[in-house]
Amino acid sequence: KVVVLDYGSKYNQLFTRTIREFGVYSELHAHTTTIEEIKKMNPVGIVLSGGAASVGDAKAHDINPAIFELGIPVLGISYGAQVIVDHLGGKVEKNAGGESKEETLTVDTTSTLFAGQTDNQNVWVSHSADIVELPEGFTASAKDSAGNIAAISNDEQQIYAIQFHPEDYRSENGKDFLRNFVFEICKASGDWTMDRFIEIEVEKIRSTVGDRKVLCALSGGVDSSVVAALIDRAIGDQLTCIFVDHGLLRKGEVESVVKTFSEQFSMHFIKVDARERFLNKLEGVTDPEQKRKIIGNEFIYVFDEESAKLDGIKYLAQGTIYADIIESGTATSATIKSHHNVGGLPEDMDFELIEPLRALFKDEVRAVGAELGLPEEIVNRQPFPGPGLGVRVLGEITEDKLEIVRDADFILRDEIAKAGLDRSIWQYFAVLPNIRSVGVRNEQRSYDYAIGIRAVHSVDGMTADWARIPFDVLEKISTRITTEVDQVNRVVYDITAKPPGTIEWE
Ligand code: XMP
Repeated sequence: KVVVLDYGSKYNQLFTRTIREFGVYSELHAHTTTIEEIKKMNPVGIVLSGGAASVGDAKAHDINPAIFELGIPVLGISYGAQVIVDHLGGKVEKNAGGESKEETLTVDTTSTLFAGQTDNQNVWVSHSADIVELPEGFTASAKDSAGNIAAISNDEQQIYAIQFHPEDYRSENGKDFLRNFVFEICKASGDWTMDRFIEIEVEKIRSTVGDRKVLCALSGGVDSSVVAALIDRAIGDQLTCIFVDHGLLRKGEVESVVKTFSEQFSMHFIKVDARERFLNKLEGVTDPEQKRKIIGNEFIYVFDEESAKLDGIKYLAQGTIYADIIESGTATSATIKSHHNVGGLPEDMDFELIEPLRALFKDEVRAVGAELGLPEEIVNRQPFPGPGLGVRVLGEITEDKLEIVRDADFILRDEIAKAGLDRSIWQYFAVLPNIRSVGVRNEQRSYDYAIGIRAVHSVDGMTADWARIPFDVLEKISTRITTEVDQVNRVVYDITAKPPGTIEWE
């Protein structure tokens, strides 16, 4: 495996991810990881990551120089490069910049790092200090257009440092470069697969849990489903999953979750039918924030009550994935927003957490799920808000309105799938705005609901653009919804980007 030590850049997990794509296991660890811990992991290579600090800053993150004595190849990137130069007797000097820009490098292709690449290549740089003096035993293997040192190598000690970002898509040979490090320098074998990930995690879970019991809140979403399936693989019926049916899921979802988890796995599966309870709590409530709060709190109450009925649970499994961690901030990266995982669990719970998916990106989580035998509709489930249809029925929520939006949404999903667009559109759904309008049905005046169709392209949900669904597909969707769903006589398509709109309507 290749260990990446985290000096705080929020892109650091991209290294581990790219290295895993090569078929080499890679994990991100805190830069405070001790030498003993590193030795125990027995890595074939170590990457010192980038970060916002500069060597010489009062609060710059340091390194134990013993790392250079381990005989394990080391690659320092950006801030990591400065740490190497600083510790091995070279000199770095702060520059005015820190600005990010494209640069053309002239590289030494006889250096193992740049083997097989072009002499001149575009890379993405953002660094706040220059290497002005090489440490002993090092040669400069790349320079930028101004003649600054962009890469240094010491083939004998297998220590390398670069001042650009190979993980950035604008670095044209970025991946080849990492590949050279991983295969030519670290001599990694490249036989790692998602299967291996599962084996490794299953082992870890078994040794952590022993013969104790684990509880998991299953939402039916990808992350919690995959975590449940993984833990089931490890410890089977020592796992109990609680699935709260709050009545705000889409058509067919409850059935699919129940069928999958009660039939396919050996865990204890508890389905709580809380539909009435949620509806009662939501009666008469129209304010979106109020609705969200009620749904979130009620979820916790139900989960609490159910888990209190269980005995001897030691661990709580959560489907935290890497995106959740950057959002809530790691030890070194600034907090972007605080994240509430499924159900925002109560603070006084006396459980220890198990989060086996912490290092994975969403598509890797899906791959693990598929490998564990989860059905397609769960593995490729699109993002779905915790409050569910509660925020897609605008205004007061009633069973009648939920039924309408569920049916319309089902037709939309069906037609999008039939048109072969289900994988290319990031998220699509029906909303029931709280408006009725006049229409004609069977030559009679009607006064019925309108349905809004929302379909967006996005990468992370932070920004989005509306999907250009072909008109003939929209036509089918509209015709089917107005004929098949009672009380709907009009369909509108939302053509708003985010910003200024949000993806959800509430
Ligand atoms: P907005 O509406 O803020 O949505 O543009 C961005 C993405 O987040 C999803 N979303 C939520 N997900 N709990 C969640 O787990 C929530 O309360 C929630 N609200 C919105 C939304 O579906 C979209 O993918």
